[in-house]
Amino acid sequence: MRPDANRVGAMSVFQTLSRQASYLREFVRTPREIGSVLPSSRYLCREMLAAVDWESATSLVELGAAEGVLTTWILKRMRPDATLTVYEIRPEFVRVLREIQDPRLIICDHSAEFLSGSHDAILSSLPLVTLPRRVSLRVLGASRKALQEKHGLFVQYQYSRLAERLLSRFFTWRKTIVLRNIPPARVYTCRLRNSPHDAPPAASRRKEASRT
Ligand SMILES: C[S@@+](CC[C@H](N)C(=O)[O-])C[C@H]1O[C@@H](n2cnc3c(N)ncnc32)[C@H](O)[C@@H]1O
Repeated sequence: MRPDANRVGAMSVFQTLSRQASYLREFVRTPREIGSVLPSSRYLCREMLAAVDWESATSLVELGAAEGVLTTWILKRMRPDATLTVYEIRPEFVRVLREIQDPRLIICDHSAEFLSGSHDAILSSLPLVTLPRRVSLRVLGASRKALQEKHGLFVQYQYSRLAERLLSRFFTWRKTIVLRNIPPARVYTCRLRNSPHDAPPAASRRKEASRT
């Protein structure tokens, strides 16, 4: 049963505004950990999902789920037998995530640095540039390891180009820009070097750049 898969669509304007207000409150408390003033727009969520092979993926991970906007999009697209493991460190957000009633969802209330297992895709909203550098390095290292066996995909959004050098230490990547988000976001679709998938599949793109 997936009672909450349509949660975003079913939310009232009041609920949406109240969620956005609580997100903003968390941002004011810890801006460097949260990294954005508003949750992802539907356009950004769609772009984050665009390169994942939903037919075959059985093990997915989300890093930095906050109140679960992207989480509900992932749950909607996932196979019924797939699992989604989310990592989120803010207790206020973890409490909201625990309201999602979906047996495929596994919530880890500790840092994404401790990500383990073997996965098909990792979708990350972590603010790589404002987190302590050692944390970002550990997260990317753990992600690369967790994707090795399945030649998986790492998808990351950022609001500036500043994380590009860091991403290049771990992956090859392709970038798209989503203008319909506050602020406009860059989505990096990343693969392991020497992966059999030589380049990430292209999705509908407004602007694209690639780098290996
Ligand atoms: C940009 S917000 C997430 C936005 C959300 N995914 C969305 O789509 O609206 C980044 C999130 O990463 C979380 N975070 C920061 N450092 C983390 C870490 N080391 N491990 C897990 N989550 C972390 C923050 O608490 C915050 O909720």
